[in-house]
Amino acid sequence: MARLVKKTAHAPHKVGEHMICMCGLSKNQPFCDGSHNLTKDEEKDKLYWYESEKREEIEQESDGCCGGCGDCQCQEGK
Ligand code: FES
Repeated sequence: MARLVKKTAHAPHKVGEHMICMCGLSKNQPFCDGSHNLTKDEEKDKLYWYESEKREEIEQESDGCCGGCGDCQCQEGK
């Protein structure tokens, strides 16, 4: 079984002296390893797949819905 989780953060969250990964890309979970820098130029309305530090843009549903994060166009005006 597999699970896809959408992450939209581009920076870690500081907890005490630790930096916790919020982007989901760190290879040293739950701690930040700097991999979030790969996300800095992501476009807001696009969806990406990351693997081995390579990024691929993924086609979204035709209505642009991403599943209810509140960031996509389908949530505007609600
Ligand atoms: S926030 Fe994920 S690697 Fe830094």
